[in-house]
Formats: sequence, structure tokens, C-alpha cells
Amino acid sequence: MKADTLFDLTGEVALVTGASSGLGLRFAEVLAANGARVALVARRADRLNDLKQKIEKAGGQAIAIEADVLDRGAMRRAYDAAEKAFGTVTILLNNAGIAHTDRAVDLSEDTWKNVLAIDLDAVFFWSQEAARRMLAANRRGAIVNIASVLGFNASKGVVAYAVAKAGVVQLTKALGMEWANKGIRVNGLAPGWFTTDINREFLESERGQTIRKEIPMERFGQDGDLDGPLLLLVSQAGRFMAGETIAVDGGQTVGLRG
Ligand SMILES: NC(=O)c1ccc[n+]([C@@H]2O[C@H](COP(=O)([O-])OP(=O)(O)OC[C@H]3O[C@@H](n4cnc5c(N)ncnc54)[C@H](OP(=O)(O)O)[C@@H]3O)[C@@H](O)[C@H]2O)c1
Repeated sequence: MKADTLFDLTGEVALVTGASSGLGLRFAEVLAANGARVALVARRADRLNDLKQKIEKAGGQAIAIEADVLDRGAMRRAYDAAEKAFGTVTILLNNAGIAHTDRAVDLSEDTWKNVLAIDLDAVFFWSQEAARRMLAANRRGAIVNIASVLGFNASKGVVAYAVAKAGVVQLTKALGMEWANKGIRVNGLAPGWFTTDINREFLESERGQTIRKEIPMERFGQDGDLDGPLLLLVSQAGRFMAGETIAVDGGQTVGLRG
């Protein structure tokens, strides 16, 4: 089959959480450029509206929906708005996330709960809502959860984040197998280091530069490095994949250069 047919998303309706910056913004643009109509979700509505205009200018279709992923009422309203604009959501990208840099002995209960709530609990509830609606509409679809290499390997100062992302990897397996025979494919992407608002200060520090040299490819991720893996998981190209989380990290998970 020709690549442009294999990865074509015409007729699909995608919902991207955390589309207001970083990886999610890029994911939304890539989905729209390949034919999906895209619902953009995050708290910063001004940024979503800017992205909606950018996508429309490039010939795509998008809707901006202001919502906090922790708010279940806002979640249902977001799906309603996406459905009203474009129809049943058939591609969900659980991308919204936060990080922290506290050593375990200093980590507050509030930070622990907030990181787990945004980075893990919300991934389940947004997936559950998407699946319920796809099943009710008798539609097939794909869910992609954004995990992290820290879901596979630990590091100092990120205990809540690493636990949440490991949970996302396991959640992806559990939902992937439970919904595989219903035509809902659940898979994950585990990015290595990409410079975004979540980590810019750290990656630009001396420690960050040391980390960069330890990555087998000797660089951080760049715009475009996740485009292909994302398209594989959401399109017919990945139609026999379920429950898998793919590391996209310049070789970091395989081993550091040392
Ligand atoms: N950058 C990396 O190196 C890296 C590596 C591995 C995994 N990841 C994962 O990639 C995903 C995207 O991160 P990023 O690097 O692109 O960071 P980012 O630029 O800080 O983006 C995070 C996004 O999540 C949204 N968000 C956070 N809390 C939210 C909430 N309560 N409700 C709704 N939206 C919320 C933010 O939007 P608003 O603030 O507008 O709500 C923003 O759009 C995260 O899951 C992160 O863990 C990143």
C-alpha cells in the first residue's frame, strides 16, 4: 500500500489534550495535516484559539475547547462539543501532563496527588469516556497515551512522575487488551527528552547538557521526531498493534553512552 493512503486520517475526529503547547501542539498540527478534524483541549484558551487559526490557515479543521483534564464535567462537555462540531471522537491523544522536580524526602502530599491525578487518573477517565462514546456510536478508533521513558526507567527527583508514567504504560496494556476486540486500539508513545515548557530550565542547565551527551544519538528530541511514530499508532498503518508503548528517545532506553 502507498504511504499516503496508509497514514491518511480523512474522516477521523481527533481530540488532543494539552494541545496548547509543546508536544501536544505539534501532535494536533500533524493530525490535522493528515486529514483528521481536531478538537484542541487545554486550560489556556487563547493559545488553543491561536492554534485553531494556524490549522485552519493550513487548510485543516479544528475546534478549541477550554477544559481542565481533572474536571469530569468539563471532560463530558468537551466530548459533546467535539461531537457537535465534527462527530464521534475516533482518535484520542492523552497528552496533557505535568512534571515535578522534588526529591522523595521533600515531596508534598499535594504534589504527589496532583501529578498522579493529571498524569495517570485523567488518562484513564478520558479514555473511558472516549471508549464509551465510540462503542455507543458503533465506531472503531485509536487511543494514544503519552507516557515517558521515565515510565520504564527511574531517575532521581521525579518519583511521582515516574510512578504515574509507569502506570500509563500498564494502563495502556490493560485497556489495549480489554478493548482490542471492540476495534479500539490503545497504544502509547514514550518520548525521551524534548525541550518544552515542562523541562526547558532543567535541560538548559549544566546537568541537562551532561544528560544530552549520554543519549546514544547525543541530542534531545526535535520537532518532527514524534510525527512518524504518532501516525503509525493512530492510522491503519498500526492496525494490528494493541497495548504497546513505543520509546522514541534516541536510544536512551536501550542504554546510556557512559
Ligand atoms: N518534553 C519531554 O521531554 C517529555 C518527555 C516524555 C513525556 N512527555 C510528556 O509529553 C506530554 C506533553 O508535555 P510537553 O513536554 O509538551 O509539556 P508542556 O509544553 O508543558 O505541555 C503540557 C500540556 O499539558 C496541558 N495541561 C497540563 N495540566 C493540564 C490540566 N490540568 N488540564 C488540561 N491540560 C493540562 C498544558 O496546557 P494548559 O496549561 O494550557 O492547560 C500543556 O498544553 C506530557 O504528558 C509529558 O509528561 C514530555
